[in-house]
Amino acid sequence: MNYTIGLIPGDGIGPDIVTASCKVLDAVGAKFGHKFTYNTYLAGGCAIDATGDPLPKETLDGCLKSDAVLLGAVGGPKWDNLPGKKRPEQALMGLRGGMKVFANLRPALMFKQLSAACPLKNEIVGNGLDILIVRELTGGIYFGERGRNADNTAAWDTEHYTKPEIERILRLGFESAQKRNKRLCLVDKANILESSRMWREVAVAIKDEYKDVELSYMYVDNAAMQLVRNPSQFDVIVTSNMFGDILSDEASQITGSIGMLASASLGDGSGPGLYEPIHGSAPDIAGQDKANPLATILSCAMMLRYSFNLTKEADLIERAVNKVLDDGWRTGDIAGSDFDKIKAEGKLVGTVKMSQLVIDAVNQL
Ligand code: IPM
Ligand code: MG
Repeated sequence: MNYTIGLIPGDGIGPDIVTASCKVLDAVGAKFGHKFTYNTYLAGGCAIDATGDPLPKETLDGCLKSDAVLLGAVGGPKWDNLPGKKRPEQALMGLRGGMKVFANLRPALMFKQLSAACPLKNEIVGNGLDILIVRELTGGIYFGERGRNADNTAAWDTEHYTKPEIERILRLGFESAQKRNKRLCLVDKANILESSRMWREVAVAIKDEYKDVELSYMYVDNAAMQLVRNPSQFDVIVTSNMFGDILSDEASQITGSIGMLASASLGDGSGPGLYEPIHGSAPDIAGQDKANPLATILSCAMMLRYSFNLTKEADLIERAVNKVLDDGWRTGDIAGSDFDKIKAEGKLVGTVKMSQLVIDAVNQL
């Protein structure tokens, strides 16, 4: 089969990791007889520099015509002082809204080979960590009405959700739980927020359609605490845009592998999905062949799985990444306290070598 992939390398290390990941996709394609055609588009800071607009129209149009979109990272200090609507992050908002990818799946998975990097005590995470955060991505306070009053003495942002918006993300949460350990926790602030109370109402209305899933509720402040106290109580967390933004950063950090975590943003299936690593653009190491490409490579695996239904191919990428880790290869960010030892053993590698190791494993396994 032929697949057209929209590429948004973006800023900082984005081009390094996207280029490396496409080579892995090509190796998988060659092995299984698929052809991936890439169309590259500008978004983020580089798009501001080239066109004045963080998300040029042709980028969104091109992405909508693709079978799936792979994004590196956007942003950097160079563009930090621009006004809100002209910031690189607007490209993300515009892509998410424009592509209608309302569901952001963020697996927080601890790689056993990297467990030493986990900041929690072994008795808390001894059994590993595998949580899926399902974050609503195109509604709530990040998309609600915002403004300032006439004399600039007050400002507001609004949390706003419609029942259909709530229902579709909750359903995805239930379905995701059905494919995993069948526990779904709705995280909200229903003791204060009216919108949260509506989330619970909708959950109650549809929960009997998912009898095999155990539904629980938790206030977000408690959830933030429970994630560090006893993270393995969670299987799937479903939550609003802002709470999901915050909790997914927390969850990724407790895995100790932020440079390893992938994400998928999906819509109702009628358009392409958007895939990206959850880490940022790391401008300090951009273009130096130091960035860890594994989160982006794993995002490609999610793309194969969710957008193209290529399960065997996705599994192979994940197994290849695990093999490379098993064999002791590390980029700087995941070397942890063993950095000097790994370096002395010659197993400290850069972006290009790391992706080549994955390709070798893909060809070998
Ligand atoms: C994320 C990021 C973005 C978000 C920022 C960069 C706008 O933090 O993808 O989680 O808040 O959604
Ligand atoms: Mg975030």
